[in-house]
Amino acid sequence: MRPYNLENDVLFRLRKTLNLKKKNEKAFLHEPNFDQKEIKYLNKCVKSTFVSTAGEFVKLFEKKIKKITNSKYVLSLINGTTALHLCLKILGVQNDDEILVPSITFAGTANAIKMAGATPHFVDSETENFGIDPIKLETYLKKTTVRKNNFLINKKTKKRITALIVVHVFGHPAKIDDILKITKKFKIPVIEDAAECIGSYYKKRHLGTFSDIGILSFNGNKTITTGGGGALLTNNRKLYEYANLLSNGAKEFHKWEYIHSEPGYNYKMPAINAALGLGQLEKLKNFLKKKRSLFKRYEKNFKNFKQAKILKEPKKSKSNYWLQALILEKKYYSKKNKILTLTNNKNIFTRPIWKPLHLLKHFKKNPMMNLKNAEEIYEKVINLPSGSKFIK
Ligand SMILES: Cc1ncc(COP(=O)(O)O)c(C=O)c1O
Repeated sequence: MRPYNLENDVLFRLRKTLNLKKKNEKAFLHEPNFDQKEIKYLNKCVKSTFVSTAGEFVKLFEKKIKKITNSKYVLSLINGTTALHLCLKILGVQNDDEILVPSITFAGTANAIKMAGATPHFVDSETENFGIDPIKLETYLKKTTVRKNNFLINKKTKKRITALIVVHVFGHPAKIDDILKITKKFKIPVIEDAAECIGSYYKKRHLGTFSDIGILSFNGNKTITTGGGGALLTNNRKLYEYANLLSNGAKEFHKWEYIHSEPGYNYKMPAINAALGLGQLEKLKNFLKKKRSLFKRYEKNFKNFKQAKILKEPKKSKSNYWLQALILEKKYYSKKNKILTLTNNKNIFTRPIWKPLHLLKHFKKNPMMNLKNAEEIYEKVINLPSGSKFIK
């Protein structure tokens, strides 16, 4: 009998879950799923000639997102990163402000803060759902900040802390109730980075709609895609109107004159992308069903596997299961790279979670709390192929 090998065992279970029959069959992390529907809408959009931001498809796309999220206002944009940048701008974030953000997130979240001229101030995540750790956050803010002239000030850097970005990781909710209690107490506005969360609900409320503003991403690797795209969600009319203005070069409405009230951005989603997205949205329910079935298949095939478990949605939530994750038990953290190497060599494109941002060289000197959990999360998480295509 051959000795037991953990990497091979994982590979075997992945091949079974993904129903891979051919020897080196490729399994991508998250492939888009298209059919004739998208082609039909794309054709229609091209034929109309309104392929840019004024096209009818943008309105139809936004209407559908409103229905899914129950957000009063939806502004479709060119990607999630610019959507976050716009959120910071409309909240009035200034150069040199600090923005609280988890170290465990995609780089785009912190890049948006840099784009706004502000500084990412890294906070730790909890090890269950990988969202901001509310207990650590409260203790840290109590110890390291003071309120002066109506602003929260970092005692050490003397800079203003003017917002916090909550990230809902892999489509699962962060501990949003607890986080919002703390931000209310410290009077910090909250932006929800729900880039990965179209179709994810907590207590029947769509992620990205718990605070004043939230964002979604429709990048090619997301549950539904517009090629590249994002959206800003808010129930606040003033915030929406200001975001709408800034996203269109701050151009005031006039039938022919070019009147710009301030410097703005070119962030609106073109209709050609919205047409692709509309086709995708019409299949969202079906994608969500398939992604949940894939989770169940993973769960079943890893049931008697003691070395790791499959990440499950938290209580009271219905997650979109955007990215499936294998969570290694502490004793097996050292196997992470071996599993990644073997599976990628065999064309199963697993991935580690993002490297914690405070470990990147350009963020090393940023303000941060102790980030022990973030570093541990990095040791133990492997993302698995998650696209709806794996379920027929
Ligand atoms: C958590 C998170 N935030 C922000 C983004 C940025 O979105 P985009 O790629 O659309 O700019 C992404 C992913 O792409 C993400 O996963």
